[in-house]
Amino acid sequence: RSFGQERENSLGVNLTDPDELAPLAEAMEKAMQQQWEARAIIGGKIHGGGKEVRAVDPSDNRRSLGVYYEPEESAVREAIDIAHKSQPSWDATPAAERAAILRKAADLYEAHMGELMALCTREAGKTIPDGVAEVREAVDFLRYYANQCEEKFGAEIPLPGPTGEKNTLRLTGKGVFVCISPWNFPLAIFTGQVTAALAAGNAVLAKPAEQTSLIGSLAVKLLHKAGVPGDVLHFLPCRGSTIGKIVTPDERIAGVAFTGSTETAKLVNRTLAEREGIIPTLIAETGGQNAMIVDSSALPEQVADDVVQSAFHSAGQRCSALRILCLQEEIAPRVLEILSGYMDTLTVGDPGLLSTDIGPVIDEKAYKGLSEHVEWIKGKGKLIKEAPLGPNCANGTFLAPVAVEIDDIAMLEREQFGPVLHVVRYKAKDLDRVIDAVNKTGYGLTLGIHTRIDSEADYIQRRIKVGNAYVNRNMVGAVVGVQPFGGQGLSGTGPKAGGPHYMLRFANERTLTVNT
Ligand code: SER
Repeated sequence: RSFGQERENSLGVNLTDPDELAPLAEAMEKAMQQQWEARAIIGGKIHGGGKEVRAVDPSDNRRSLGVYYEPEESAVREAIDIAHKSQPSWDATPAAERAAILRKAADLYEAHMGELMALCTREAGKTIPDGVAEVREAVDFLRYYANQCEEKFGAEIPLPGPTGEKNTLRLTGKGVFVCISPWNFPLAIFTGQVTAALAAGNAVLAKPAEQTSLIGSLAVKLLHKAGVPGDVLHFLPCRGSTIGKIVTPDERIAGVAFTGSTETAKLVNRTLAEREGIIPTLIAETGGQNAMIVDSSALPEQVADDVVQSAFHSAGQRCSALRILCLQEEIAPRVLEILSGYMDTLTVGDPGLLSTDIGPVIDEKAYKGLSEHVEWIKGKGKLIKEAPLGPNCANGTFLAPVAVEIDDIAMLEREQFGPVLHVVRYKAKDLDRVIDAVNKTGYGLTLGIHTRIDSEADYIQRRIKVGNAYVNRNMVGAVVGVQPFGGQGLSGTGPKAGGPHYMLRFANERTLTVNT
């Protein structure tokens, strides 16, 4: 069962087939009517106390989704105690047993697809196709890390040695991991981090993003139902500041898997560095200032299509999303003409409708920050197109997808996490300057290249320092086991999620030498 050689990715749902769509739509509708509740889950028990917070639907702030409860500090400390005590027995559980639990969880996720997708839509503002992709990716992570668990943790690796000596190498868990997940992939990244840590033999404190606590809670309940022991996996829907105050400074925490902003990753890193005791592990997957370079040999229609998917779909809320489109001057007018026409046809609105292309941004804070940037950049550059908002957008945080032409990549100091595309034109002789400017941002996550000249694609992809480069296609939606995902520089520490080395960072290596 080698995931790397043969594809084992889940098939998802064919949304154009009424027989597949109807039961899913029914399950989603039922789940959307429900009032949800999320509480901390500590030692397998639902925690009774905490501070009530209302869950918000970013597409309609009048709609009530339910509530979650932030646990008190004492409850968080209790979770650390239990996780620390239980980790050795989980680590001693045979890898095949751990893997079987994760595979069972994958089946349960598939069986609960309607509820999971409903929460993706209502809590995270995901469109229906994005919801399908989200559940598929989560399921893929579960099966991929189950396979990796058996492959890498299931047996000792024999090593050579002189006669009379037996050498072996084996992998074990490190201890307790804190997994801090983002709201933009509230199920897929949440599940990926948690299950890689578990598969490697660690106990886990799972902290969802505050905006997406409800779906995190459902995921943990399904993992427990599949057989992950309650004392090994704990759910803490608390604020980031609680984690920074109580959890990351605790010497019993062996490592942190974090996905979010570069600033917060640095803060976590500082807290870990200042701690007494062991040197903990940090796995951080952060932002991007991702570029697509399009030369004059590219196919304009395909470029426009891939730009829309990469920059505007998912409301631009992917760390892989395209932010800077670099067009060689000869092709720029045609690409921009097609792109503008395409943007006019986009449907921005309720993500619960199949006809919607683009849903809301996650919350008021994101909306305000992005709107301020759009106003600023429109003043500095030239507006190419602002897509129209659909009807019924008044009560949600909908931002119209926008493309603005600017003179200089250096104007862009920060990643803008939304449907905002910056366009620059370049002359063929200045390609190296464009490459240098992209590298100078310091980020290194994704890169798109459109060219029909192989040597050009090769030259660009070798010179730009990124984790994932895509040639003549869109630059989002990395598939588990197929496009291991993650960046370098300001974009993260590696190793890549959904790749063969990811789980190793959650493990200790032990060499045993026996004189026979
Ligand atoms: N893994 C996602 C993608 O490839 C981004 O987080 O789009």
